[in-house]
Amino acid sequence: MQSTAVKSDDQEKSAPKEKAAKEHPSGDKRFKVLDITMKRNQYRQDALIEVLHKAQEAFGYLEEDVLVYVARNLKLPLSRVYGVATFYHLFSLKPSGSHTCVVCLGTACYVKGGGEVLASLEKRTGIQQGETTADGEVSLITARCVGACGIAPVVVYDGTVSGKQTSEQALDHIKGWIK
Ligand code: FES
Repeated sequence: MQSTAVKSDDQEKSAPKEKAAKEHPSGDKRFKVLDITMKRNQYRQDALIEVLHKAQEAFGYLEEDVLVYVARNLKLPLSRVYGVATFYHLFSLKPSGSHTCVVCLGTACYVKGGGEVLASLEKRTGIQQGETTADGEVSLITARCVGACGIAPVVVYDGTVSGKQTSEQALDHIKGWIK
C-alpha cells in the first residue's frame, strides 16, 4: 500500500518537469499532437517515421522548426531527421508558394464544415489541395487535426491558426494573396 503511494508521488513529481522541458515555446497546439505521438512511442528513435508522418498530418508539410523539434525530442542529430524527411516522397519539406493556407480536415473540422471551406478556397484559387498557384503565391494544403478541435473548423494562414472559419472568412483572408 505504502509503496504504491510512493510510486505515484514520484510519477507526479517527474511528470510536470518532463512536460515543461518538452513543450514547444510557441504554444502552437499542433506541437501537442506531436508530443502525444512521441510520448506514446516513449520518445524512441525508431519511431521517427511515425512521428514525421504525424507532423505532416498536423502541419501539412515539414517546416524546419518541426524537424528541429522532433530531432531534439527524440535526441537524434538534425541531419538524420532531415535525411529521413527528404528520402521519403510522402514527406514534403516546404510548400512552394509564398503563402500557405492549411485547411484542417480532421474529424471535428470536417463535420463543422472544413470540407466546404476547402472547396471554396479551391474554387477561388483554381488549384486543388496539395498544389500551388501558377504565380507561386499560394499553396493550398490539408492537414488532419492541428490540435485545435475546440475552435473547429480551423484554417492555418501562414502559420497562424484561425478557428471557426467560414468560407467567406477564408476567402476574405486570402484575397490579398490572389492577383
Ligand atoms: S480536427 Fe481540426 S483541429 Fe482537430
